Amino acid sequence: MTQSVQFELQLARRMSRLGTETAFEVLSKAKELERQGKSIIHLEIGEPDFDTPGNVVEAAVEALRGGWTHYGPSAGLPELRETIAAEVSRTRGVKVKPEEVVVVPGGKPIMFFTMLALIDEGDEVIYPNPGFPIYESMINYAGGKAVPVPLHEERDFAMDVDEMSRLITDRTKLIILNSPQNPTGGVLPRADIERAAAAIGNRNIMVLSDEIYRRLQFEGEPFSIMSVPGMQERTIVLDGFSKTYAMTGWRIGYGVMRADLAAHMTRLMTNSNSCTASFTQMAGIAALRGDQSPVDKMRTAFEQRSRMFVDGLNQIKGFRCRMPKGAFYVFPNIAETGWKSKPLADALLDEAGVAALSGTAFGKYGEGFVRFSVANSMDNLHQALKRIENWAKHNL
Ligand SMILES: Cc1ncc(COP(=O)(O)O)c(C=O)c1O
Repeated sequence: MTQSVQFELQLARRMSRLGTETAFEVLSKAKELERQGKSIIHLEIGEPDFDTPGNVVEAAVEALRGGWTHYGPSAGLPELRETIAAEVSRTRGVKVKPEEVVVVPGGKPIMFFTMLALIDEGDEVIYPNPGFPIYESMINYAGGKAVPVPLHEERDFAMDVDEMSRLITDRTKLIILNSPQNPTGGVLPRADIERAAAAIGNRNIMVLSDEIYRRLQFEGEPFSIMSVPGMQERTIVLDGFSKTYAMTGWRIGYGVMRADLAAHMTRLMTNSNSCTASFTQMAGIAALRGDQSPVDKMRTAFEQRSRMFVDGLNQIKGFRCRMPKGAFYVFPNIAETGWKSKPLADALLDEAGVAALSGTAFGKYGEGFVRFSVANSMDNLHQALKRIENWAKHNL
């Protein structure tokens, strides 16, 4: 029986400022089309198509059997915090202590908690656009002023540090960096990161460095702004397991930051989630300590698939695409199709059976682009190219 609504829903005003991540909406629309009998190739959602490595699954099963099914400390299990501190110390060349690590359910809560902990009404936050949509959503939700840095195709989508520097004002509280970048696959070279640190200088500005795709950089060593002398105290590193170990559904990630801020983020954890699932954290320890060859295999596969898909797109009328430098997305320019991004992405789904995301799902500077995830088999990617080409022949 359906109930008639008697009382108007009186939402808090702040809810009007909350955005979303379109990938989940397109995924559910694509699933609905599949239920209706349509064949869809899923290139919308940002998750590795590989299985979580076997040793990680085994560690979780063992942990479940061993009774790791209870609450744990809000900041994470001590052994995992120690393991992460050692890993980040080694890879970023800085000394990180366990009390500077907060384990959370996925990388996303670190964005949420950073905004809640640091951003007051009117504080300015500089962030890449097109970029991961949750940055802008959370800045607005927290009452901050979202200040986008447009990313340019001709720079292979590496943020222009001079442009970023010109946006810094007395109200700037936080700068978000993301390399390798979603949705463009752009990478910030070390020299640019050092110049960004120099532009910040002695100002009391924090940096949220989203390094979730760090291990999926195709060439050269990834570099963190945390490694720049003088920047550790002002950097929050966001990293995790979702993309590196194909663990998106496990919900585990972490932030690394000065201990006083970590204590506040821990309070946000206590207030929201209590803790990250204990057996998942045991699996996280196994992931970091175990065989790393599955990560290398995934990176190689993503690079090969990206190259194949980029080459294929460049043969299709109206599509022009650069090779990404990391992650598992390709971000073609579709201006020459004469279509806007959103209608084009909708048409590809409805008429060609290829689920992709409009560039505008990543902010206003994403207009003129669409994002395809190449976290799918070579066969499906070939098939998707055929479908797009066929669609283009009939519609462009
Ligand atoms: C740039 C970026 N940061 C963070 C995340 C969040 O990852 P998680 O699934 O661990 O919350 C994503 C996921 O798509 C992402 O693309």
